[in-house]
Amino acid sequence: MTKTIHPIDVILHKRDGLALTDEEIRSFIRAIVRRTPARQLVTDAQIAAFLMGVFFQGLNSRELSVLTEAMRFSGEVAYTEILNTFVIDKHSTGGVGDKTSLLIAPIIAAAGVAHPTPEGIPGIVVPMISGRSLGHTGGTLDKLETIPGFDTQLTLARMLDVLKQCGAALIGQTPTIVPADRILYALRDHTGTVESPFLITASIMSKKLAESLNALVLDVKVGCGAFMPSYEKSKFLAELMVQTGEAAGTRTVALLTGMDEPLGRFSGNWIEVWECVDIMRGVRHPMSADLIELSLTLSGWMLHLAGHSPSPQAGIDRADEILRSGDAYNAWLKIIQAQGGDTSVFEDPASHHTPGAKRILKAGETGFLASMDCKQAGWAVQRLGAGRAKPGDPVSANAGIESHVKLGAHIEEGQPLFTLFSDDEALLEEPEQMLRENLRIMEEPPTLPPLIREVIAADSTQPNRGRRGPDA
Ligand code: URA
Repeated sequence: MTKTIHPIDVILHKRDGLALTDEEIRSFIRAIVRRTPARQLVTDAQIAAFLMGVFFQGLNSRELSVLTEAMRFSGEVAYTEILNTFVIDKHSTGGVGDKTSLLIAPIIAAAGVAHPTPEGIPGIVVPMISGRSLGHTGGTLDKLETIPGFDTQLTLARMLDVLKQCGAALIGQTPTIVPADRILYALRDHTGTVESPFLITASIMSKKLAESLNALVLDVKVGCGAFMPSYEKSKFLAELMVQTGEAAGTRTVALLTGMDEPLGRFSGNWIEVWECVDIMRGVRHPMSADLIELSLTLSGWMLHLAGHSPSPQAGIDRADEILRSGDAYNAWLKIIQAQGGDTSVFEDPASHHTPGAKRILKAGETGFLASMDCKQAGWAVQRLGAGRAKPGDPVSANAGIESHVKLGAHIEEGQPLFTLFSDDEALLEEPEQMLRENLRIMEEPPTLPPLIREVIAADSTQPNRGRRGPDA
């Protein structure tokens, strides 16, 4: 006879620092998704207590893998295996102006289309399931939805059709994927448990693994614009995600990359699509150099893991060729058309940017731009109207900022640093002040770290024995 597992026992075991059994974790997650108002198999208070137990006691590698798998299979999964091709995705922990997905999906799609399987399916496919803006960071879905007609709410069956036809699909989270995460995340938000690296890992990896991936490349941000407050904590999170992906049979590599200033030229919604369209059409604005470097590096790793390039560097070179040749742009047009988007807006993207109000922020002194508070820059973009104050708020297609300088640049007093865009003149004041107050201009040029800081692969991680992480 199987022993009944009561939620209270799972909570007590975690509270007291014991390792949970596989069945304890699975039964807790089952209870979360199967409960109904009439049948409270587990109460909100108990889920909150469990989350706090995990926050303080952590999870060992086995517990974390079992929790992630239980969440992954708590709802519908994308059976991309039936395509019989290599399935890969990229995930970023979130940044300001971070639009690499818009370049990576078409680059990899173009690479895959050039090597179709005997059934005519692209040799690599990217089922990119993305999110909306969160806090100070932007969201890929909000950017894509500025393209007239573009449908991000595809069913998983329809996503498979787009993958077969185009090699990539760009869609939003469906209500049926990983329902356990939706319930846990809502309670984490109210109980001060969002920042646990174990809970973040289970949340992100359960959703990515529900795409049935062969490989995953993670872009884990470090620096003042990252969610994690220190380099060590970002690295610990990257290690947990790599170990959890590998334990599920998905080749997983994480790149620790800098988020000390907005990535690329524009930060907002339509203006980020415009920047990527320019790049795919061969226009490389100097302010887009960091965006191009990061997108090519992530694409290079993806091509390498998919077996299409003998090394990450060869993959980067191949990705650059695809981008320069116009193949990525053709793949982009195909994906946008397949999902109902009107591609005529890409002919002259600047003319589709119609902000009602605009202001230029100029340098107050001469010197070198040494640092800025990138998180504040992200909040400034949100306050201009490009992000949300609360879930469900509408976002502006036109709002955002254009960067005219990058860290390390020598600037003259009166030189334009940022242009701010909004639908409403009244929304310009506070963001302008937020940006101005958070810039540091120095006499000496700063020493800046490289954009790509470190690569974390399975063989470079330490075993996780349930410690809470650095400085805990
Ligand atoms: N993004 C997620 O999907 N989950 C988290 O916990 C944090 C960021």
